[in-house]
Amino acid sequence: MNIRFTIILLLILSVSFQSSLAQNKRKSVDQKVDSLMLLMTLEEKIGQMNQYNDDQSATGPETIDPDKAGQIIRGEVGSLLNCNGTVRTAGWQKVAMQSRLKIPLLFGQDVVHGYKTTFPIPLAEACSWDMEAIELSARIAATEASAGGIHWTFAPMVDIARDPRWGRVMEGAGEDPYLGSLIAAARVKGFQGDQPGEVNSLMACAKHFAAYGAAIGGRDYNSVDMSNRLLWEVYLPPFKAAVDAGVATIMNSFNDLNGIPATGNQYLQREILKGKWNFSGFVVSDWGSVGEMINHGSVADEYEAALSAVTAGCDMDMESRCYKNNLLRLVKENKVPLALIDEAVRRILRKKFELGLFDDPFKYCNPEREQKELNNPAHPAAARKIAARSIVLLKNQDHLLPLDNSYKTIAFIGPLVKAVKQNKGFWDVEVQGVDSGFIVSQWEGLKRRLDAGTNLLYAKGCNIDGNNKDGFDEAIAVAAKSDVVILSIGERRDMSGEAKSRSNICIPGVQEDLLKALLTTGKPVIVLINGGRPMVFDYTAEHANAILYTWWLGSEAGNAIADVLFGDYNPSAKLPISFPRSVGQIPIYYSYFNTGRPATDDSNRFYNSSYNDLSIYPRYEFGFGLSYTSFAYSNLQLSTKKIKAGESLTASVTITNTGKYEGEEIVQLYLKDKVGSIVRPVKELKDFKKISLKPGESKTISFIIGKEKLSFFNQNLEWVTEPGEFSLMIGASSADIRLEDRFELL
Ligand code: GLC
Repeated sequence: MNIRFTIILLLILSVSFQSSLAQNKRKSVDQKVDSLMLLMTLEEKIGQMNQYNDDQSATGPETIDPDKAGQIIRGEVGSLLNCNGTVRTAGWQKVAMQSRLKIPLLFGQDVVHGYKTTFPIPLAEACSWDMEAIELSARIAATEASAGGIHWTFAPMVDIARDPRWGRVMEGAGEDPYLGSLIAAARVKGFQGDQPGEVNSLMACAKHFAAYGAAIGGRDYNSVDMSNRLLWEVYLPPFKAAVDAGVATIMNSFNDLNGIPATGNQYLQREILKGKWNFSGFVVSDWGSVGEMINHGSVADEYEAALSAVTAGCDMDMESRCYKNNLLRLVKENKVPLALIDEAVRRILRKKFELGLFDDPFKYCNPEREQKELNNPAHPAAARKIAARSIVLLKNQDHLLPLDNSYKTIAFIGPLVKAVKQNKGFWDVEVQGVDSGFIVSQWEGLKRRLDAGTNLLYAKGCNIDGNNKDGFDEAIAVAAKSDVVILSIGERRDMSGEAKSRSNICIPGVQEDLLKALLTTGKPVIVLINGGRPMVFDYTAEHANAILYTWWLGSEAGNAIADVLFGDYNPSAKLPISFPRSVGQIPIYYSYFNTGRPATDDSNRFYNSSYNDLSIYPRYEFGFGLSYTSFAYSNLQLSTKKIKAGESLTASVTITNTGKYEGEEIVQLYLKDKVGSIVRPVKELKDFKKISLKPGESKTISFIIGKEKLSFFNQNLEWVTEPGEFSLMIGASSADIRLEDRFELL
């Protein structure tokens, strides 16, 4: 038998062995679940569907429940959230082991961008367009959190968001479903590792299902009203990507969708998620969202709320107590079939078995491992790397950056220069027994980077908000003594995040006035803008010499900022979300429809879709970000100009580093379907490649365009392609299109 045939045969055998192994594993778990359920009372089954907050910290309106331990011992609680650390989780697990069937508790926490080692906020990480780095960030977060006794993270948040007034825009991956889907999958894989039950992994939870980021007016928790076509085309894809990546759980959302609260929405949870997508994990409500359906007005009381949620496919009730207080009666009164309870409990127990918690309920409670992983030097090193890759260079007049050692006196000014915990952003984790000493402030990071001959001066200048300008004189005096000024301004970290919607997204207080004052010294000013959302900063954009959008970069913020300021890392990040020129321009995003009277920025504004008092373009567009070097795009070649349905074509392009620094470029591919039964956006991101080039180096890269990239949801929600002409655009951003060509789908 020849070698090739043997190798192929062995490969086939190993693949079939692997899949039968997985099938057997699934079968054995199902058998274990079935056997356990035969022993459970209805009360104990309902207990598994009930999740309480631990009293360590609350991430929602808290209900103090004095008898949690008694309820756990009676088997009335299946999970706790906001409980971390091997000591505390082991303590609660010991209580659970006193219950009749010794069913272990699940411990959940919002490990959104790190546990102890804090990574950049997710929207900042999304600027890296680097799936490996994003996956590694989640991997490290999972390693540390699982070492801290946690089984389950309520992340990734995959809500598409196009309104920066919404504070939770900081938690996702921006405005685009293609980029958002890749990032959703990368984060799920990072958190969950290769297979469930690995001791250094977490169950992930894609949230908030669904369309929570489209809240009217960007007001958190507000209603969402959209066509099912838009829902399928823009807001569902990242959830589908998470499900395809094997996400263990889904969290539903606070908002109503077209008048039906997501928590009680059968279309979302049963028809789409558990039906069409065949999702096998379980659905948890958001904090109290079962009971909040009473406020929505879709149910009259907690009894009806429990009925609506469990019927719609919500398996676990976080903190509302509606399930605990009403499901028994609903079953006894034949309003809820026992089969629905069994289905929910089966989904939850399956995960507990997969995690190995029945074999060893204390598997994740190893204090030695906790100490080792929370002090692993590889983790901050990785955080520093991705933080530098999350910083967006928005402006660099006269190539002021990178700084070199010729600057002998640097003035570092602003209310965020010496801030420590601010750098963690929202949705950081307060780890039991860990202080903030490991966080590198911006001041500390710069001080460490400077050589002995450089003098670093400091002045606060002003507060983040308020109108007090008393500190201006001192700041001006400090700036006057310097060769260059670095000004660090922005929001407070609690100005974005949950329940942090803002009607005014300008940089708060008198911080831009401080910039104006500093510019009177004639010194060049580099501005660092810190925040969790796209902010409006007209004066800074027009007058600063250089601008770095530093978001909230986490525990290595100071080091990462220093790395970029001095060119140890040449910034490569690109915006995953459009920056409006004013709050009046919202919503603004790149993949808009052309309309019958397309907006033009020319003087004759008559009869076109634009504001008469504002440019039609955002301040900074989706996909925008500068580098210390420059790149030329040339030689776009298409393998063919005509393809039949189902065929694909290859587009190749050459990128050259035409500057003097090594750098990375995110080359973006956009398509425009010229004519469709549903109008198509002026362009849509369909692929990208991040490449590294030395000065003078060229690389030719290629993209394959097939059915998936040409398809869209038609009026009947069918995922189709339609014959016709397409524009193919290669750009350095959604507005900076460098090369264009056309092809026809026959
Ligand atoms: C919050 C958030 C959700 C979070 C949950 C638990 O209200 O909406 O994202 O996971 O409660 O903290």
